[in-house]
Amino acid sequence: MAHTQSLNIVIFGPPGSGKGTQSQKLLDKFQLKHISTGDLLRAERAAKTELGKQANEFISQGELVPDEVVIGMVRNFMLNHSDSEGFIFDGFPRTVNQAIALDSMLDENNTKITCVLGLDVGEHELVSRLLLRGRSSGRIDDQDENTIRTRFKEYQTKTLPLQDFYQNQGKYYSIQGAGDLSTIFHSLCASVNNARK
Ligand code: C5P
Ligand code: MG
Repeated sequence: MAHTQSLNIVIFGPPGSGKGTQSQKLLDKFQLKHISTGDLLRAERAAKTELGKQANEFISQGELVPDEVVIGMVRNFMLNHSDSEGFIFDGFPRTVNQAIALDSMLDENNTKITCVLGLDVGEHELVSRLLLRGRSSGRIDDQDENTIRTRFKEYQTKTLPLQDFYQNQGKYYSIQGAGDLSTIFHSLCASVNNARK
């Protein structure tokens, strides 16, 4: 079971800010399990499970899936990987309710979030990254600018308040998310090391 020395990283930022890309690099460096709620939801959708069918409506519109669905999915994932040294949470939490649930799930395992790494990228850059990704990813929510705009609006209203939530806990690190991938990665690692001191 996880313990207090474990490392739990939340990678935070708007759609297209590089959370998934940088998570992969962090996974290579630290022995952690990756929880990408977006990937889990897309897998449910592809497998046409009941959960996947429910989630599909929200995902295709660019809206957030209800808290209880996503929280349940994360709870299951953590239960199934309870031997892990820690987790990288990618795309979760997306709301204050999800953040409160995450704190209590970690608390139940006598552990906590080490740091929240927020990737800072301008909106113009985000739109072009997402449209570019849409050409190869096949993701329905990356295909048109309207859906992308809805995702930004969801981010602004429901997810951005988490910045204050984690700043108040002294866990929030803002990282320049535009530019060279390995420069960004080094900034992320510096923040992780700082948070672990
Ligand atoms: O994290 P990612 O950008 O891959 O998520 C894709 C979509 O999955 C989101 O736009 C949203 O519809 C859904 N999602 C969600 N709640 C989460 C994570 C993803 O509703 N915590
Ligand atoms: Mg992602």
